[in-house]
Amino acid sequence: MNAPAGQPDLSHLWMPFTANKQFKAKPRMLAHAEGMYYTSGDGRRILDGTAGLWCVNAGHARAEIVQAIARQAASLDYAPGFQLAHPQAFEAASAVAGFMPPGLDRIFFTNSGSESVDTALKIALAYHRARGEGQRTRLIGRERGYHGVGFGGISVGGISPNRKTFSGALLPAVDHLPHTHNLQQNAWSKGQPAWGAHLAEELERLVTLHDASTIAAVIVEPMAGSTGVLIPPKGYLEKLREITARHGILLIFDEVITAYGRLGAATASEFFGVTPDLITMAKGVSNAAVPAGAVAVRREVHDAIVGSVEGGIEFFHGYTYSAHPLATAAILAALDIYRREGLFERARTLSPAFEAAAHSLKGAPNVIDVRNLGLVAGIELAPRHGAPGARAAEAFQKCFDQGLLVRYTGDILAISPPLIIDEAQIGEIFERIGKVLKDIA
Ligand SMILES: Cc1ncc(COP(=O)(O)O)c(C=O)c1O
Repeated sequence: MNAPAGQPDLSHLWMPFTANKQFKAKPRMLAHAEGMYYTSGDGRRILDGTAGLWCVNAGHARAEIVQAIARQAASLDYAPGFQLAHPQAFEAASAVAGFMPPGLDRIFFTNSGSESVDTALKIALAYHRARGEGQRTRLIGRERGYHGVGFGGISVGGISPNRKTFSGALLPAVDHLPHTHNLQQNAWSKGQPAWGAHLAEELERLVTLHDASTIAAVIVEPMAGSTGVLIPPKGYLEKLREITARHGILLIFDEVITAYGRLGAATASEFFGVTPDLITMAKGVSNAAVPAGAVAVRREVHDAIVGSVEGGIEFFHGYTYSAHPLATAAILAALDIYRREGLFERARTLSPAFEAAAHSLKGAPNVIDVRNLGLVAGIELAPRHGAPGARAAEAFQKCFDQGLLVRYTGDILAISPPLIIDEAQIGEIFERIGKVLKDIA
């Protein structure tokens, strides 16, 4: 396919999670980014209502991060991480540990959320095996959970389009908790919904069915984002923690979108006051300037695995780019900005105004729910008869055309701006969405 003069040829790139044919017929290009704004390929300013993909928490093109990456690329572009290291890898691990709940201070680096999830699942299996409980191989996820796209992640994940094509090759010993989304009970909740803590007790049913001695870990997003913003009911996470601890099952919080300030605290664990055994992260850890991810591991879990081997490699797992020098440079610079600028506190301070602005959409055409926590809001639209997702897709396109980036999953719009947003920009996001919804049948 020949491209028009000045335009790239669109034919070679197979785009991820994208309707390729529709996109290529009407491309949405981004050319530049700074602070709260993208600039589109045709030169329009687009207010970033989603921090990219829930990841640019400190805003775009932060000079300190750009400079740190450039300095690092010039002095040490790459260092193998197997049996070798570079000092910044250790500094970055210490810095990440400083943001984690007490006790989760052993850090394994990856390059993405999907890799962090698969790494955490492997750590869970290795931990039980190291302690002589190698029969604990079962992993428990949750319906509607999103844990990336590795085979481990889609196996414990609960989004059926992500699973069905690969159903013959999913991990064998997996079960799922029910999701917690219930509009009859919880529509228009501000913050955590009141109904649904009892759904965590379904874990007891799975323990009775499979026996605790076969279960390695439970993995959940403390607040599920990609599936359409599902806020945990009050008391739900506490119950999961209590049941897992009682049965010797590890609890993994997938904090790929919640870590680094999204809820107004360093982690969702800190925000909810519930400490798991492992935390997976990516996205905000480097402000998305270089692909990076990590798993924070409770010290005893790490020690059980590393201490179980006399000499030689203790854990047969790792990536060519684990603790890549450019990633560690970006991580150190991003974490420094978060701390120096108090961005998590800023998110917490802004969240009441954000909540009020989001809920101002109650009564807008076709809105059947608004829910929110920290700097996250979900706006659920009534699906069109016979065309689920079409109404939200149209809203997304119209918002983009009118200079606002939102995300959609099914018929749910998700808003998760950079934490540097101000109150005027918060107002602008929800006013524009309100206007767009008035234009959509
Ligand atoms: C909770 C959660 N886990 C895992 C992932 C996968 O991350 P990545 O796309 O970096 O592999 C995501 C991505 O949105 C996520 O939200």
